[in-house]
Amino acid sequence: MSEPTVRVRGARRTFAAELAPVRALRGVDLDVAAGEFVAVMGPSGCGKSTLLNVIAGLDSVDDGTVEVAGERIDGRDEDWLARFRRHHVGIVFQFFNLLDGVSALDNIVLPGVLGGMRRKQAESRARDLLDLLGLGDRAQQVPAVLSGGQRQRLAIARALVNEPTLLLADEPTGALDSDGGLEVLELFRRLHDDGQTIVMVTHSPDVAAGALRTVRMRDGLVEDDGTGVVALSDSAGGAVAATAG
Ligand SMILES: Nc1ncnc2c1ncn2[C@@H]1O[C@H](COP(=O)(O)OP(=O)(O)O)[C@@H](O)[C@H]1O
Ligand SMILES: [Mg+2]
Repeated sequence: MSEPTVRVRGARRTFAAELAPVRALRGVDLDVAAGEFVAVMGPSGCGKSTLLNVIAGLDSVDDGTVEVAGERIDGRDEDWLARFRRHHVGIVFQFFNLLDGVSALDNIVLPGVLGGMRRKQAESRARDLLDLLGLGDRAQQVPAVLSGGQRQRLAIARALVNEPTLLLADEPTGALDSDGGLEVLELFRRLHDDGQTIVMVTHSPDVAAGALRTVRMRDGLVEDDGTGVVALSDSAGGAVAATAG
């Protein structure tokens, strides 16, 4: 098998808090192969966003290793991570995080230019993406006049401008009505069909059902990685793989 696009081993992340430290990740292992569409589910506070941020290089682990697109990203400095994200990671958030003052087109063009494209080239890619995502006639409009589903599709277009190795989404349908949620899910499925690797956090079983594999987290751990292979701890504390059933 080729290198997985994501390989996380023994990831730990603890946040300082007033009463007691919060152990958001307590030793997470996760592999995502190239081309997979994976949903991450679990109760609120179980560490889903922390895991996604760690994979995105937006947050760092205290212990353990994180490999994305064949590179170790743990222990890197901010500059390295910023460059890494521009080339390898597209991120979609629950509340879109679009630039309100500029057109839909420029919301895509600007990160393209930051990613090293010439303005003309970025514009042509942005127009292609707007067409692909059904927003071709919205290029000059500002995000405020778009529906929630359209805004999220625009945020997805922005995430795709630099042809990321990995598309990450944290509750991408969480702020949308059911039609908007379906639009976004439908789009992810099309992107997956075209080979895009996607990791999507959601707490909606309906949304997760659109993915090809579901990873379940609880209390800072992966409880079930959705591959049908159970990790059994051996006496030395290492992991032994066994097939379920
Ligand atoms: N920056 C932070 N500072 C302090 N605590 C945090 C921070 N980020 C997350 N946490 C805590 O870590 C735990 C896991 O959070 P999170 O990964 O956001 O969970 P989820 O996305 O599954 O709801 C929660 O208890 C949360 O309050
Ligand atoms: Mg979250």
